[in-house]
Amino acid sequence: MKILVTGGAGFIGSALVDRLIELGHSIVVIDNLTWGKVKHLHSKVKLYKADIKRRVLQEIISNEKITHVFHLAAQTDLQEFGTDPLTEAKNNVIGTLNLLECCWRSDVQKIIFSSTAAVYGNPETLPVGEDHLIQPQSFYGLSKYVCENYIHLYQKLYRLDYTIFRYPIVYGPRQDENSNGGVVANFLTKMIRNHSPVIFGDGTQSRDFVYVQDVVEANIQALYYGNNQILNISSNVEVTDQRLLEELNQILGMNILPLYEPGAREEIECFCLDNARARTILNWSPRYDLKSGLIETVNYYSNILDYK
Ligand SMILES: NC(=O)c1ccc[n+]([C@@H]2O[C@H](COP(=O)([O-])OP(=O)(O)OC[C@H]3O[C@@H](n4cnc5c(N)ncnc54)[C@H](O)[C@@H]3O)[C@@H](O)[C@H]2O)c1
Repeated sequence: MKILVTGGAGFIGSALVDRLIELGHSIVVIDNLTWGKVKHLHSKVKLYKADIKRRVLQEIISNEKITHVFHLAAQTDLQEFGTDPLTEAKNNVIGTLNLLECCWRSDVQKIIFSSTAAVYGNPETLPVGEDHLIQPQSFYGLSKYVCENYIHLYQKLYRLDYTIFRYPIVYGPRQDENSNGGVVANFLTKMIRNHSPVIFGDGTQSRDFVYVQDVVEANIQALYYGNNQILNISSNVEVTDQRLLEELNQILGMNILPLYEPGAREEIECFCLDNARARTILNWSPRYDLKSGLIETVNYYSNILDYK
């Protein structure tokens, strides 16, 4: 098995790479380093600083004799997507299409794709299962859904196997505080500096937060299970912004009050993803509850921000 991780210098990708190397795999990473950081990459990785939209991808995949691909490279900044759907479609859709073309023309057996809960849009029932209506409310969600469909078609036409994962909000060490979904990193970096985090709305908005190591373990299981399946990877727990703040205050031993600002109109009020299918098919379950995941995350940010 020879593994390629696209976006391997990013938040989730670099954690996945660390674990794959720990398990003894040989890893190639392709990342254009727009958001990814070399300092987050394990020293045993072979890094190609390249864009997944470029022709050179074919050469890399063939020369390296890649058999399995974790595809995480994507433009994930929702703000930017809202205003620039063209750039986003080029990066995510065209990038994924180029990758699929290169994969089936080489010896790649399987692609494991990081998609998003944003494909579902406004939930009609909670928790949201994989068979829920697909009605993305953002260009980001739509672009990921288009990628999912291409991946499905390549399996039908060229027998390139896949597992598609849909994540809600992933949190943990190395996340960019300004990234889409980086709410934990955003709250924490402010609180550690003794500043108030901003809560949009009245704090009752709820979301599903899954710890990055749980996402990593699900990806590893997909090397062996879950062929041609779409699976939610989540905690299956609704957490309000108010509760998130309370938990962080408790772990930090602080009592920081938030600033409240009006919520965006398109914000989804409550969200929670059903992970029952992934539990059965992957023989996986989340090992971190909110508190244990937050403790790990607080430790990381406290160290890098030199919290006293
Ligand atoms: N973090 C979350 O909460 C979350 C939730 C749902 C889905 N996802 C998905 O998981 C994946 C990883 O997310 P993340 O939070 O680690 O993001 P990230 O921005 O930290 O990582 C993405 C990486 O891809 C690289 N990249 C982007 N475009 C590229 C291109 N054209 N060619 C080569 N490299 C490119 C970036 O430099 C970065 O290192 C993404 O596909 C994202 O859509 C993340």
